[in-house]
This record gives sequence, structure tokens and C-alpha cells, in this order.
Amino acid sequence: MKPVRVALLGCGTVGSEVVRLLHEQAADLTARIGAPVEIAGIAVRRLGRDRGDLPVDPALFTTDALGLVKRDDVDVVVEVVGGIEPARSWLVEALKAGRSVVTANKALLAEDGGTLHDAATEGGADLYYEAAVAGAIPLLRPLRESLHGDTITRVTGIVNGTTNYILSSMDSTGASFTEALEEATALGYAEADPTADVEGFDAAAKAAILASLAFHSRVGAADVHREGITEVTAADMASAKAMGCTIKLLCIAARIDDSVSVRVHPAMIPRTHPLASVGDAFNAVFVEAAAAGQLMFYGRGAGGAPTASAVLGDLVAVSRNRLAGVRAASESRYADLPIRPMGEA
Ligand code: NDP
Ligand code: HSE
Repeated sequence: MKPVRVALLGCGTVGSEVVRLLHEQAADLTARIGAPVEIAGIAVRRLGRDRGDLPVDPALFTTDALGLVKRDDVDVVVEVVGGIEPARSWLVEALKAGRSVVTANKALLAEDGGTLHDAATEGGADLYYEAAVAGAIPLLRPLRESLHGDTITRVTGIVNGTTNYILSSMDSTGASFTEALEEATALGYAEADPTADVEGFDAAAKAAILASLAFHSRVGAADVHREGITEVTAADMASAKAMGCTIKLLCIAARIDDSVSVRVHPAMIPRTHPLASVGDAFNAVFVEAAAAGQLMFYGRGAGGAPTASAVLGDLVAVSRNRLAGVRAASESRYADLPIRPMGEA
């Protein structure tokens, strides 16, 4: 059985869990795919970094990501590095050469997803990115496939775990934003530089990806009206509580007439709303569709293992496609609805 050869770009929080799961589930994955998965190489920034007892041959590590992507023996590229460049160049190179790509890189997809989709079409390759929004929660595949016969009217979600932890803590303990952020940092939820989370950039990137899929249009991060949670005070939370509400950082993407409105901001929601009870660093996304009605997706939106679960699901899908000699249908961009200015939302 010819193996599926994988170039893994990145071996940090997510990448190391991808390696671990590939090792632990090797037999099951071989059975599900119909061929074994082999790691052809792992690109990292620091060769000397201590990677604990990662179950992988140290000789596979390289700092030459582009060289790895270009190797003839690579079938699939899994990118868990993040950022715009050099990730975009690596993935365009891979896709144009016909190599399937699995990525968790929401920032790149929201900034320039069109370039990746065009490269995938040119190379006849698959581009899967379930892990880019809401970690382990199966969400993009349902939007991209299962709900394709329906008309989605609105997507409302909590798509950033760090800010949800901070707001939930402010709600339950009366802590200030700064105190709750310190707690989130100590627990490893917030990164050393929490700007992307607390200022809403991370949620805005995810909102753009969700809106693009839900409304068959190209929506980028710059199209999203964005406000973070740094201005939410303990007094705001206390007022919300007194009114039977809580405050959540929501991503709201709506189809209004023949345009799309996408925004991310803190919002007061009644405690009876299904999203109000989403605590800790969990994510939840509420989808409304014309025929299906209301659907709710809930689970772990961040963390190494949950995110690696979504990456591996994509890896199985693209590997099976390769073995069958097919690729997934391109995402439909037929609508390309204009973006509605915030004032009209
Ligand atoms: P980390 O910072 O933990 O890991 C990044 C990895 O990329 C490291 O292994 C690093 O190498 C490597 N790297 C960085 N720059 C380069 C470079 N120029 N060339 C080669 N390798 C490089 O990130 P995460 O694992 O947390 O995130 C990875 C991706 O997954 C991002 O796109 C992120 O947005 C996304 N994501 C993350 C989630 C999470 O919960 N962490 C959830 C959902 C998505 P080295 O090890 O040597 O430092
Ligand atoms: N920083 C992100 C979060 C990671 O807190 O949700 C998952 O995308």
C-alpha cells in the first residue's frame, strides 16, 4: 500500500498534537484512509527547541519549509505555523503543484483566502481548513456541504475562547477585565501578546471565513466591523446582570436583502439565550437557515488536541480524495454579495 506522505509545517501547540495523534492512531487512520500516513518532514523555526518526548524521528525536522513543500515525495501539506507570510507562499507553491493542503491558519484565510482558492483550482488540489474556526467543532464542513441545499440567513457565534473565558470570569466573579486577563494568561488560554484575542482580530478573521462560506461570497477580515472587549468594565457586567443579561463577544454575520453584514463586538444577551450559558474557553455557533431553522454547534474552540482533531479529520478527507483520484468541489462563490456598511446593519 503506497503511503500518503505528509509535510508538516509547524510543530508547536497544534503541530505537536498532530504528530502525537498520527502516532497513536496510526492503525485506525490507515484503515480509514486505505493507506498509511507517513510524515515526510516537519518544518520548524528552531531545530534546537526541546520538544519533549514527541514520538517522531528527530531527523525529520528541518528549517527549510519551502524545500520540504517542493519535495516530489510529498502528497499533502499540513500547515500549522500561522501568519500571512511565509505561510501563503508555501501553500500557494503546494497547491499549484497539485499537493493537497490542510491548514488551521485563519489569519491567512481571512486576509487572502482568494489566492489560496485560486491556487487550489489551478493545481487541481484540495484546500481544507476545518481547524481555522472553532477548533474541534465540526462547523465549516456543515456550512460548506450539509447546508448547501439551504439558504443561511444568519450566523451568530462565540468564536474566541480566550475572550469568552475572560468575560465568563468577569460575569461569575465580578473581576475586572485586567484581573480576568491575568487569570486567562496564568491558565495558558491567553497568549503572551493577547492583542489578537482581546481586540477582536482573531474573532474577525473567523467571522470573515464563516460569512464567506455561509453566503457564498468573498468576505475578508477588512470587511468585518470589529470591536474588542478591552473597554468592558466590571460595572458594565454588573449592569448587564441586573437586567438578566450577560456580555459576550459575538460574531454576527447576516444576509440582509442582497448584501452581507459582518461584525464582531461585545453584546449584551439575555441569560435565556443559548449562547449565554457558553462558559469557560468554549465556543458555540448558532446558525439560522431558511429550511433547517436554528442549529447550534458547541465545543472546544482552541487548544492543541481539539484543534489537531479537526486537522486530522481534514487529513483523512484529503487523503481519501487523493487515493480516489478526486478533489472536493470548489467552494461556491456564485453569490458574491456586497458588504453592507455597519451603519446599515
Ligand atoms: P505555535 O506558535 O505554538 O507553533 C508555531 C509553529 O510554527 C512552531 O513549531 C514554530 O517553530 C513554527 N514556525 C514559526 N515560524 C516558522 C517559520 N518561519 N518556518 C518554519 N516553522 C515556523 O502556534 P499554534 O500551534 O498555536 O498555532 C498554529 C496555527 O494554528 C495558527 O495558524 C493558529 O492560528 C492556528 N490555530 C491555533 C489554535 C490553538 O488553540 N493554538 C486553535 C485554532 C487554530 P518552533 O517550534 O521551532 O518555534
Ligand atoms: N486564540 C484563539 C482563541 C485560539 O482563544 O480562541 C483558537 O483559534
